Parts: sequence; C-alpha cells; structure tokens
Amino acid sequence: MKTNRQIFSSFLGAHAGEEVRRVFTSASLRTCFETEPGADLTDVDLANETVLAGLAGVAVERLRPVRDGFRRLAQAIKADDADARALRAKAALESAPLLIGSQYLIHGLCGSWNNETRYAMAALRIHAADVGVGQPAASRIQRYQELLRQHGLADAGEDLLRAGADPRISDGAFNFASTLVVLGHFPESMMAQALGANLYLRHCGLLPSFEFIADDEPSAGQFLDLRRDPAGGSDDLAALAETAVREFLVDAGQSGRDSVRQGYLWARWQAETMSQALLEVLERWLDPREAARHLISRRRLDACQYHDKTRLNKVPMKPLLEVDDSLAFLDHLAASTYVRAGKPESSPLLTSLISPRGKMFRIFSRDDISILQRWIAALPYADAPLQSAAYQLWKDDGRLVGAIREDIEAPVLVTHLTPRQAYPRLLRTELTPAEESYSAHYVTRWLARAARGVANGRCPLPEQWAPDVLRQWLQRQHEASNQALEQDEELPSREEVVADILSLAPLTMIDGAWLAGFAHPAVASTAYGSRLFETLFDELGNGIEAQNHPVIYRHLLKAIHGELPATADPGYANAACFNDENFELPVFWLSISRYSQTYCPEILGLNLAMELSGVGGGYRRTHKALVAYGYPTMFVDLHNSIDNISTGHTAWAAASLDAYLSVFPRSDRDEMWARVRTGFVALNPPREQTMLDKFREKVRTLL
Ligand SMILES: [Fe+2]
Ligand SMILES: [Fe+2]
Repeated sequence: MKTNRQIFSSFLGAHAGEEVRRVFTSASLRTCFETEPGADLTDVDLANETVLAGLAGVAVERLRPVRDGFRRLAQAIKADDADARALRAKAALESAPLLIGSQYLIHGLCGSWNNETRYAMAALRIHAADVGVGQPAASRIQRYQELLRQHGLADAGEDLLRAGADPRISDGAFNFASTLVVLGHFPESMMAQALGANLYLRHCGLLPSFEFIADDEPSAGQFLDLRRDPAGGSDDLAALAETAVREFLVDAGQSGRDSVRQGYLWARWQAETMSQALLEVLERWLDPREAARHLISRRRLDACQYHDKTRLNKVPMKPLLEVDDSLAFLDHLAASTYVRAGKPESSPLLTSLISPRGKMFRIFSRDDISILQRWIAALPYADAPLQSAAYQLWKDDGRLVGAIREDIEAPVLVTHLTPRQAYPRLLRTELTPAEESYSAHYVTRWLARAARGVANGRCPLPEQWAPDVLRQWLQRQHEASNQALEQDEELPSREEVVADILSLAPLTMIDGAWLAGFAHPAVASTAYGSRLFETLFDELGNGIEAQNHPVIYRHLLKAIHGELPATADPGYANAACFNDENFELPVFWLSISRYSQTYCPEILGLNLAMELSGVGGGYRRTHKALVAYGYPTMFVDLHNSIDNISTGHTAWAAASLDAYLSVFPRSDRDEMWARVRTGFVALNPPREQTMLDKFREKVRTLL
C-alpha cells in the first residue's frame, strides 16, 4: 500500500479490522497525530460541560474564511446552470471520501469491554443515528449515494464504498478520510483520539464544502450536517459527542485529556486543510477546460488502443494521445470537424459519434458527456488555462503511509487458553494475532459440534426454508412454550434461581455480543443487517443507561449475590461464583461476532435461537420465581416483551433471515439454510465427543 487512496479502499469491508491492525499499530498510528500544528486548547478543561460546548463556536468561527470562499463561489455560479451543476457534482464527488471516513470513525467505540459505560453508550447513539438505525438503506452514506445519483455522477452512486477506485476524485481527498477509517479500527488504544476527532466533526455541523453541496438542495443539509440525525430525529449529535468526551474523561487522567485534545486538534487541522484544498480545486473548476483536460488524461491510454487511422484537425490522433498533454489534444479536438465551437447540440462528437449507431456509442458516461458539453459550449476560450491542471492540485500527503509498520508478517504464536481465561481477552476488539487465531479456531470447533447436533436431529427449525415458513413455525413454538408453562406450575427453589442467574451472568453481561459485527457501517444498514444492528442497539438500551440490558442484569446480580467487578476486569472472570463452563458460550459469541460476513448464515440462525429462547413460558416462569423470592423482575419482563415473536427481536430475527435468504437462487439457498440451522443449534450444541462417543458412533454406522 503506497497511497491514502489505497489504504482507504482496502479497509472499508466489515472484516477489515484484523488486517488494519496488522498493517498499523496504535503506536505507529499515533505518529500521525503527534505532528499536528497548533498547541492551543492546552488550558481548556475538556471535562467541563460549558467549556466543551463553547468549543463548537470556535470551530465554526475558524472555518469562516473558507466558508466565505465557498459562499462566494456559490454566488459566482448562480447565473449559470451548467457551471452550478458541474461544480456541485465535483464538490460532491471530492467530498465522498470524507463523508464515508466520518462514518467509519466511531463504529467500534462501544464494545463488549465497555458496554455499560456512559461514554460508550453516547458514542453508540451517535453511530446509530449515522447508520439510520433499523431502516435499511437510510444511513448517511446511502443518503449521500442518492445525492451523487441526483448529480448524474453515473457509477459513483452505484457503490459508494468503491469511491477509492474513482479516478475523478483527487488523491488528496483521501488524506483525512483514510486516517479516519484506520483510526476507527483502534477503538481501545486510540479511543481518546477518536472521541476528540468525532467531537470536532460534530461541532462543525455542516462543513463548508457540504454547505456548498446542499445550497440548491436544502433537504440534503439534514444528512450532510454531522451534528444532526440524518433521519430528522431531534438528537443533537454534538451534545452526545460532548457527553462521550466528558464521561470518558471521568476516569481517563491527564494522558486521556491530552489524547482527546490531540484528536480534536488533528481533526480540526485536517478539516481546515481539506476545505481549503477543495475550495482551490473548485475555483479552478469554474473553467470548463479543467474537467475536460482531466477527462482526456483519464481516458487517453484506453483511447490509444484504437484510433490508429483517425486524424484530428489533419494530424494523426494516436500520437496526440500517447503524450500526456491533454491541453494540446483539446486544441486539436476543438479545431476538428467533430466540434462546433459554442454549439454542443450540433457537434458530431456529441451527436452522431456517440449515438447508438455511432462509432463511439457508450464510450462516454453521462458525466463525461456533460463535461464535454460544457467545454464545447464555452469555446472559443480567450486566454490560455493555468499551467498545472486542477486535478493535480490536491495531492496525497503521504502521512499515513509513513505509519505502516515494517514487520507486517510477524509469526503467530499459538495460545492455549481455557474459555474462562479467554473471556476477558476476547471482550476486546484489538486482539493479538494469537488471540485472533484462537477465536477463529474456537468458532470452527464449536460449529462442528453444532453441525453434529443438526445431523443427530437436534434442530427444531423446518428442514426447508420458504417465504412465510418461519413466521408460521414461530407461532407454533410460541404456543407450545406458553402451554408448557400452564402444565408446569412447580417453582424452582431459591438456590436454583440464584445458581441459574449467576451461571448466565458472563453471557448476559455481553447481551447482543453475537451481533457486534453488524455495527459496522458496511452492513448496519443493509436489507438483512439493519434489524440486526437495531437488535444490538436495543440490547444496549439504545444508548440509555437505565435501559441497557447488561446494566439491568447487574442490578439483578447485585440483589441475588452482591457487587461484581466490571465485566472486562480480570476479577470478573475469576469470580468464585462462576463455573468454568459458564464462559464457553460467551466465548463463542465473542469469537463468531468477529466474522459477521464469513459466518453470516450461522449468526442469523444463532440470533433467531437466542431471541426466541425464553420468550413466552421461559421468561414467565422465571418472573414467577423472581417475584416469589423478592428479586427484581425487570430483566425477564423486559425480554419477554422486547424479544416477542410478532414485532420484537424474534420477529426481526426471522425478517432478517428472510431478507438474507430471498436474494439467493434456490440451490444456494438450501446450502445457506443448512448453515442457518447449524447456527441455531450453536446456541446449545452437543458436548465435545469423548472417545466412547466416537466408538459408539462408529459402531452405529457399521450396524
Ligand atoms: Fe437483551
Ligand atoms: Fe433481544
């Protein structure tokens, strides 16, 4: 990887984390933040509510000169529709990496290691707004995609995550964005810097370039403004970003304050630099020749493959294309019979040549055609254009490449850990390669057990999937569960209730962890992933402490047992009240959640099993027992309601499965469904086979 553009493009996928952390270390990444100019804010108390809120005004004020520049430009293009369209389209394209980068910064800040903390919950609320929580295709990124489509930017709107491959975007547009993407994969070691950078971005609200883009489209201002909820909700995301910083600093000490400040100043410097650089490109883009010369320089090598005999203005065309001098080429093109100066509508280049019967049909995209139209419309030009082309102005700053570690191929040591030992480690996102390898193997072994369970008839799901089959099946399961309650009136003893609640604590304190991978911006707003993210968001109380399931379970634990350390504290996993086997399923959740794409069908099956478990009879039975012994019932009452099969998490689990499976052809669907069934059994797979089990199985197959 040699450029910011390549780094940006390589790390947008949902599984990029492990690779990012192989290419960079937090120490190497920190070097990018240590060199930001400006040492102000040293006396500012970032933990003070009033002071923190006051920084927003300063951030906006500092951007005023460049904002004025953008406003002057908006004024200059008001009279000319073609100029206005061209400049807004260019600004939208050049700003796409930043918009994406801003959405990749905080997706991992709330993890299983900090899921009860207020700062993580505030960050999660901001992220949920960004991804359009629960609504497919409603994330800020997808709304931006629609905006690009409106600007007629052809394939740019098709898959925004391929923006890195778009040669129309300047190299420099990836400087800030690539670092935001990489930073998002260090949510523990670089938490403070990420919170600081996020605070700055939210403080700015509508960055000058986004204001320019939204000038003729006020509704776009809602999702281009990073301070606002793109869906129109009333949450002030800057206020939440301030809460996140303040709550984080409660326990962070001086180094935490310094790092938050560093992240804030770095983002400020980057945003101001990028705004100025983009303004300069756009000012030059007023000249229609800039877009045209960029078009020729992008396409000339392809064009060289043809045009052996074509002559342009009486000279052979191929040699003109072989040299990188697009201005000379444009001069010849302007003087040729293909172009009528000032009249694009009667220039053969844009009429007969590109018509369905013309020699150059489909050679130019819609965007290319508008560039050429604008260039021809302004012909002839009175003076020569500026020497260095506008498309070469905004360059890669090379900073992030300098932070790539040199020893990427470090050997992976094998780690032997019991699930109990692995639990506190795997709560974390930033694992060592050995721990990553441990979690990958753990998943494989666990799913092999689950697959054996399916083969032995332990999966109650229908053998085949078809639309609506799941809904009917759920209905039957629900009825059976409630009937079982009516027949079974005997209450468990107090000791049994206490033992049950304790044994489930390592699992329940990471409620939703199996879905952690669906917080990633690449999947959180897909057709199948949006409800999975919303389920995760619900498990964590929608970022509100009193509704957070681990927090609620901790209250129950306190009532039956007393205080326990924080879940990520080694003292928690070592607590004498837990048995070793209580950590087996939690470690599977933590492990499989790292591979939300590789094991998507299995996670969808596991999610259905998890959300269905207890709904109806199970939770109601536990409720009765908790009431009988005077313990809080909120945890079970809440789950019997939130997980319900008609409109709750269980229904969403089925809907996500239906959305996921319906896009596959029938043959692939059967294979996917088999994997879903394995995932379902993975909630409670048969135990590891002993030698005796293996012998028995062998005998059975022989008989
Ligand atoms: Fe829950
Ligand atoms: Fe749930």
